[in-house]
Amino acid sequence: MILVIGCGFVGETVAKSLQEAGHSVIRIDPKYNDNTIDMYLGTPELGVVICVPTPTVDGICDDSIIREVLEELGDTPVLLKCTVPPNMLETYPENVTYNPEFLRAKTAEEDFKKQKHFILGGTPENCEIWKNQFSYLNNPKIKRILSPVEFIETDRATASMVKYVHNCWLATKVAFFHEVMNNVGDKYNHKEMVNILGKFENIGPSHMSAPNDDGGLGFGGHCFPKDVEAFRNFSKSEILQQVIDTNSKLKD
Ligand SMILES: NC(=O)c1ccc[n+]([C@@H]2O[C@H](COP(=O)([O-])OP(=O)(O)OC[C@H]3O[C@@H](n4cnc5c(N)ncnc54)[C@H](O)[C@@H]3O)[C@@H](O)[C@H]2O)c1
Repeated sequence: MILVIGCGFVGETVAKSLQEAGHSVIRIDPKYNDNTIDMYLGTPELGVVICVPTPTVDGICDDSIIREVLEELGDTPVLLKCTVPPNMLETYPENVTYNPEFLRAKTAEEDFKKQKHFILGGTPENCEIWKNQFSYLNNPKIKRILSPVEFIETDRATASMVKYVHNCWLATKVAFFHEVMNNVGDKYNHKEMVNILGKFENIGPSHMSAPNDDGGLGFGGHCFPKDVEAFRNFSKSEILQQVIDTNSKLKD
């Protein structure tokens, strides 16, 4: 049995996928049901996937909900999908395996099915447990795709860095392209430029269009602003401070 704790955007996508694959899934989320962790503790072969919020408060990632949940779970194997920086991850017990998530708001279910890399940060024994639970992603009946999921095992800090550097790099790309468009967009055709640049493998086709779908400029959404701020604080990156400042000017 797998408990999915926190069934918002990420948790519900994962719960649905596990269920479709034939896993027995229990959802725990006070917003949607009355299930509690203690009702299921002690169930044989129990695994827990945690997808609760990690907002950024005063520039720092707030992992207090994760800590509360981990305390209740004891040594049950945990797969943590929340975005948390390396210095917080290292304080969690060893039964916690970190699995960064890369879903996009508009295409979450499809992104989960078609993910190319499933990153596991933790001990080899714990990574193996979760690799087995999600091995169905490579079942052709479920996946119906061309390339198999690559399960990548590393340590928790490195897995966390992959997630933050990914989000911060893409946010930086948005801020830079939007700044260029904002400053000198009347001198060239931005749409055509990004179409051409998108053909370069070392640049790639994403995160260059301007303006956004809502007509505005700068990165936004549920994750980029909070993750850039938390990672600037953790990494002491001067470049990211500039990205944050440039982005707020673009949004004014
Ligand atoms: N949204 C994304 O695109 C995305 C992508 C990758 C990673 N993440 C990360 O995944 C985590 C979850 O993000 P999300 O977008 O799904 O958040 P969300 O706000 O959509 O969902 C979180 C859910 O957790 C529930 N919750 C809060 N406290 C709880 C508790 N004590 N017990 C059980 N449930 C509780 C809330 O009711 C809510 O439904 C965050 O760390 C986020 O940074 C999000």
